[in-house]
Amino acid sequence: MNTDVLANLARPIVLAPMAGGPSTPELCAAVCNAGGFGFLASGYHSPDELSAQIARTRALTSRPFGVNLFVPGKRHDDTDAWLQYREHLSQLVDAPLPQSPTWSDDDYEKKVAVLVNASVPVVSFTFGNPTPEVADRLREQGSLIALNATTSEEVAAAAELGDVIIVQGKEAGGHRASPLDEAHGANYSTKELLNMATDYGLPVIAAGGVATAQDVRALIRLGAKAVQVGTRFLTAEEAGTKSTHRAALLNLERETVLTRSFSGRTARAIRNEWTDALTKFSPSLYPEVHYLTAEARKQANAQGNFEHLNLWAGTGYRSCTQASAEEIVQELSAEL
Ligand SMILES: Cc1cc2nc3c(=O)[nH]c(=O)nc-3n(C[C@H](O)[C@H](O)[C@H](O)COP(=O)(O)O)c2cc1C
Repeated sequence: MNTDVLANLARPIVLAPMAGGPSTPELCAAVCNAGGFGFLASGYHSPDELSAQIARTRALTSRPFGVNLFVPGKRHDDTDAWLQYREHLSQLVDAPLPQSPTWSDDDYEKKVAVLVNASVPVVSFTFGNPTPEVADRLREQGSLIALNATTSEEVAAAAELGDVIIVQGKEAGGHRASPLDEAHGANYSTKELLNMATDYGLPVIAAGGVATAQDVRALIRLGAKAVQVGTRFLTAEEAGTKSTHRAALLNLERETVLTRSFSGRTARAIRNEWTDALTKFSPSLYPEVHYLTAEARKQANAQGNFEHLNLWAGTGYRSCTQASAEEIVQELSAEL
């Protein structure tokens, strides 16, 4: 196993994969070219789009980068819970809502095949872990396997199957990775998880609430090989973040909350009317709830209505600034 790709980083800043728009080849390449390590997010993209994004990133940087995959969960049969939630949602929004649940495996197997062909240096997984067969197929093509962990059990599982452990603390913006247990994956801080993970002798990347140069220095001193940063890059010039989300990150001064209300899976977002009204009703039905709310979220973004949008954000979002990815990488690594 060759983890030099992380050990040799000029700046130990990993750009988190951010599905749903923010991740772009331009953002990924800019972070790599600034001395950090970029990820592309494959979630919600077709396999062809993923191939095109990899090619585009390679045209923009000669540096190594990674790709993240969503591991599909099971299809849920609980249409009653979905319909009940649909009823609550219809009282808040006036967007058209689907009549029946949609499930998807996000074209997982086809994307694995794309990545086996593409031989990218690192492949990370979220919402589940790959089978040992999938991990080995990717390793045979030279990819390192990076696995997320939000609990001590998940740290142990990541160490057993992976080459790199990404600990994701409860401060993190967006979805909990929770590969083993969606219900209990939100309780440990980034520092607590890092302490659990450094015992295993594998490189550890620390993610969750990393917003300042002081945060970076503290985690590197505690043994992280690098830090993975999402929220701070949402307002980078190269990010594809929705305009209403971007404006909210730069202007709102509210708390963040954990909520299943947008997707059916626990995620951290800036509190708004939607989270206040719907968090208590939201069932654990990912991705069915994600598809249920998709049109309403699209409409809210188009209308500039941040009260009805999934404003994914980590606890440090108030540090967000309008800047280039290179400037953000430099700022975050300034105290090392
Ligand atoms: C908008 C957004 C989208 C995200 N999408 C993904 C994703 O597609 N795959 C993934 O593994 N993690 C995803 N994450 C989680 C990040 O990998 C990371 O754990 C998190 O951003 C770290 O916390 P921070 O946002 O406070 O920096 C996402 C986070 C955000 C904010």
